[in-house]
Amino acid sequence: MRRRSVVPALLLSLGVAAVPAAPHAAAAAAAAAPLPLTQVVPVPASVRAGGGAFTLAEDAAIHVPAGSPGAAAVGRYLAGILRPSTGYGLPLTTNARREGIVLALTEPGAGNTGAEGYRLQSTPRAVVISAATTAGLFHGVQTLRQLLPASVERELYGLGPWTVAGGTIADRPRYAYRGAMLDVARHFHTVQQVERYIDQLALYKINRLHLHLTDDQGWRIAIASRPRLTAYGGSTQVGGGTGGYYTTAEYQQIVRYAASRYMTVVPEIDMPGHTNAALASYGELNCNGVPRALYTGTAVGFSSLCVPKPATTQFVDDVIREVAAMTPGPYLHIGGDEARVTGRADYVAFVDRVQQIVRRYGKTVIGWHQITGADPAPGAIAQYWGTKGDEEPVAVAAQAGTRLIMSPANHAYLDMKYDEETPIGQKWAGYTEVQKAYDWNPATVVRGVPASAVLGVEAPLWSETVTDSSEIEYLAFPRLPAIAEVGWSPAATHSWASFRQRLAAQAPRWTALGINYYRSPQVPWPWTG
Ligand code: ACM
Repeated sequence: MRRRSVVPALLLSLGVAAVPAAPHAAAAAAAAAPLPLTQVVPVPASVRAGGGAFTLAEDAAIHVPAGSPGAAAVGRYLAGILRPSTGYGLPLTTNARREGIVLALTEPGAGNTGAEGYRLQSTPRAVVISAATTAGLFHGVQTLRQLLPASVERELYGLGPWTVAGGTIADRPRYAYRGAMLDVARHFHTVQQVERYIDQLALYKINRLHLHLTDDQGWRIAIASRPRLTAYGGSTQVGGGTGGYYTTAEYQQIVRYAASRYMTVVPEIDMPGHTNAALASYGELNCNGVPRALYTGTAVGFSSLCVPKPATTQFVDDVIREVAAMTPGPYLHIGGDEARVTGRADYVAFVDRVQQIVRRYGKTVIGWHQITGADPAPGAIAQYWGTKGDEEPVAVAAQAGTRLIMSPANHAYLDMKYDEETPIGQKWAGYTEVQKAYDWNPATVVRGVPASAVLGVEAPLWSETVTDSSEIEYLAFPRLPAIAEVGWSPAATHSWASFRQRLAAQAPRWTALGINYYRSPQVPWPWTG
C-alpha cells in the first residue's frame, strides 16, 4: 500500500520510446543529466556541487552500521523504494566498505547535524548519508530519492541510469516541529488512507502527524470506558455517511506506521466545543442531561460540554487517561477552539482543569491559540490558526513562555480553495494559491511573538469537503511541500522564484507515485507532470 500507479502503462511506453527514438544527441544527454543537488524540496541548508557523479551499479549494496536496528530499518525502507524500479538486488550489508550507498551514524555532535540533520556526499564511488541519528538518516534518504530520476518512484522496472550529481549537501531543519493535521472527524479516513498520507508527508520531512480525532460530526477513537462514543458517536459523518472509528489496535497501527517514517502522532480531542458527537452519546455531558441528536452538517461553534458538572470532569479524565496511555509521543492536543457557547468563566476553568489532567497523565498540552485567552500552563503549546497576526493574547502568552505552532489559516490551511474554480475546499480564510501558501515567515507572522517562542509550523487539512485520498492529495499537493519548506529550510534560502521551479520538478515524482495534484498556473510544470 505504499503507493499506487495510475497510468503505469502510459509512463512505461513514454520511457521506453524516449531513448531509442531520441533523434537529437543533445536531447538525450539532457534527459540523462543528473538532477542538480539544489533540486530538492525542502531546499537544503547548504549545497556544494562538484566532482564526479555517482551511478548506482547493478551489484551495489546498501551499507548500514552494525548494531543499529534503526539504521537497518532505514536501509530496508530505501531498498524497498529502489528495488522495484531499478530491478537491482541492493542487499543490505554491515561491511565497512564505502562504496555503493552508505548510511553512516556519526558521533553525537559530530558534523553539526543535530537531532534530524544529515550530510549527503556523492562521488563516483559512493553516496554517503551520515547523521548523528537515524531520523537524520531517514531525512537524508528522502533527499537521495529526489536526486535520482523520478522514475525511481515507480513500482515497475524502469530504465536507468540511476545517477546522482556529485557534491555535498549539509542539511538540518529550521524548526523542530513540522506538522500536518488530518481531520478524520468530519469525514472518516481509514488506516490505509492515513498511512498513504504519512508516506507522502515523509517525502517532505514532516515529522508530526496531528490527528483531529473528535468533532461535532463524529468521535473516531475507541475509548474503552466510554463505548458509546464510537458505537453511536462515530456512526455518521458530514453528509450522513456511515462514519467510522479506529479501534485501539488500529490507532496503534497508525502510531507505529508513523514512527517508522519518523513521525510522531499528536492526538487531538477537541473540547469543550466541537463536542456534539460526545453530547449525543452520553446525555450526562449536557447541562440538561438530555442527549443531543447526531449532527451531519458543517456549522461550527454550537456545542459545549457542560463544564460545571462532575460528570464532565470524570469524562475528560477517562478520555485523556486512555488516549495518553495509547500514545507514545509526548503531546496531547485538547482543541479549545470556537467554544462559542461556553461561558467565559467556564472556558477558563475548563482549560485550567484539562491542562492539569493532561499533565497528570504525563503529556505536554497543545491547544488551539484560544487557550491563550485562558491561562496556559507552564510548558503549554498553542497552535495559532488566525489570519490577522495581531492577536494580543497570543503575543502576551508567547512573551511569558508559551510556545507556538504556526498554522495561519490564510497561508497554511490546506483545505482552503486555490481559487474560485476549485471543486472542493472552503474559502473563509481566502483563496490560497501556492505562492500564498509559501510566502510567509513563522517568525514574524504574529506581531509581538519572540522568534524563540516559535516551535514550528503545521499544515492542517480539515475534511468537511474531503472524502478520500484523491481529494486529500488534490488539496495537499502542491501546498504541503510549500509549508514543509517554510518549516525546514533556513529563512535565508526563502525564494518563491526558486521554489516554483523546484516544485515543478516534483510533478513527475507525484505522477510516478500516483499522487493526485492541482496543476497551479503559478508553477511551470513540465508537460509530462
Ligand atoms: C479551527 O480551524 N477551528 C482550529
